[in-house]
Amino acid sequence: MSGLEIREMRESDVEAVAALDDRCFEVSWGIALFQSEVISPVSVALVALRDRRIVGYLCSTLVMDEAHIGTLGVEPKLQGLGIGGELMAAFLNNAAMLGCRRVTLEVRASNLSAQRLYRRLGFLPISIRRRYYTDNDEDAVVMWIEDLRARAAQPTSNSTPGANV
Ligand SMILES: CC(C)(COP(=O)(O)OP(=O)(O)OC[C@H]1O[C@@H](n2cnc3c(N)ncnc32)[C@H](O)[C@@H]1OP(=O)(O)O)[C@@H](O)C(=O)NCCC(=O)NCCS
Repeated sequence: MSGLEIREMRESDVEAVAALDDRCFEVSWGIALFQSEVISPVSVALVALRDRRIVGYLCSTLVMDEAHIGTLGVEPKLQGLGIGGELMAAFLNNAAMLGCRRVTLEVRASNLSAQRLYRRLGFLPISIRRRYYTDNDEDAVVMWIEDLRARAAQPTSNSTPGANV
């Protein structure tokens, strides 16, 4: 998507990100959790902006050579336009540059659109965590990229050089 800027999340973004998260998910993270993402030395948190407005965000934790994506959301009215793909591609490029090798995430079993997006970006399903989501007892599909460096060497669609989910 043209006109999209992706950069690190700042403390001054947290309120807007938490409000967006509220619109994206039935069970939202809340301001305190996003605040801790911004200050944590092991977190990589990104935002996507269009016309200087935050339209997407991604939060992850990097430990040694492994990353876990905690959350990813895009403004509901703007979903399906490539913003999530660009955020994720920017994160994967960034993580690879930081020496990260494996990337994992959990996604609701019913969230097929997100699973398709993650597959397109190189993630594979590896297991199911039964009743992972406590709000409705839904299973999580665990997806991962086993070797980010091999993947990073390949051209990706929707990728943005530089710079969550
Ligand atoms: C999941 C989510 C982050 C994806 O973000 P997004 O911006 O909608 O993702 P994209 O637009 O990059 O890709 C989604 C779909 O749009 C399609 N798409 C991408 N660019 C497109 C374009 N220019 N025109 C039309 N369709 C496009 C993709 O191919 C994909 O289609 P598919 O589902 O058939 O594979 C977003 O839908 C969201 O916030 N959902 C609610 C919260 C959520 O479920 N988060 C993930 C938790 S694991």
